[in-house]
Amino acid sequence: MNEEKLNELRQKVQNLALEYQKKEDFTGWFEVMYTDALGNPEEIPWAKMQPHPCLENWLKTKDITNKKALVIGCGLGDDSELVAEKGANVTAFDIAPSSIEWCKKRFNNSSVNYFVADLLKLDNSWKNSFDLIFESRTIQALPLSIRREVIEAIATLLKPKGTLLVVTRLREIEDIPDGPPWPVSEEELSQLSEYGYEEITRIPYSDPNNPSIKQALIEYQRKRL
Ligand SMILES: C[S@@+](CC[C@H](N)C(=O)[O-])C[C@H]1O[C@@H](n2cnc3c(N)ncnc32)[C@H](O)[C@@H]1O
Repeated sequence: MNEEKLNELRQKVQNLALEYQKKEDFTGWFEVMYTDALGNPEEIPWAKMQPHPCLENWLKTKDITNKKALVIGCGLGDDSELVAEKGANVTAFDIAPSSIEWCKKRFNNSSVNYFVADLLKLDNSWKNSFDLIFESRTIQALPLSIRREVIEAIATLLKPKGTLLVVTRLREIEDIPDGPPWPVSEEELSQLSEYGYEEITRIPYSDPNNPSIKQALIEYQRKRL
């Protein structure tokens, strides 16, 4: 995607997110992005149409056969498909109905169980029930005012001894960033320790289109409930 197009889409995202925030709706704009795209991934600035390279690398040395896996905010489905290819039983959800429709169309023979759901309104029966959770760029896509709620919602889904993988932009200081995206701070991530999480590894990542931006895949294990 060329620089001009990327800037145009970034502006669209900022304007839409702001418009919805004024109505106290932090997520309604995602559906607008997917429907406006009319099936063209070039209109979705975060759609790479391939799994995240950090997830690919992490999976190279892991056996996830038959693990119960969850992909949060799955977007157009590339990460969920990779996790399923590696043998896990994958559930993937997104709040935007059009993204889920798009996933089902793209991967019509998929073993992934795709569905529409809001991370902040999941059924209680999901709690402490997954072996592996992958979240890429969903925390950072939601504003700081609901960050504690978002992190809690993710943290309570994993079984003890399970693995959580977070792909996110990181920010150095506690200043309020000008999002979306709103990069995540170390202090915000430290909330995970309240739910028994310990950081295992951190793989730094530099997006070729945005080399100056600090990102990482962080692997956590849930040591206890
Ligand atoms: C920046 S995109 C990232 C998509 C994908 N994970 C990726 O890395 O390509 C954020 C995704 O999270 C979804 N999302 C945002 N808030 C959500 C929520 N509360 N529950 C479920 N999905 C959500 C959006 O619809 C969007 O698809």
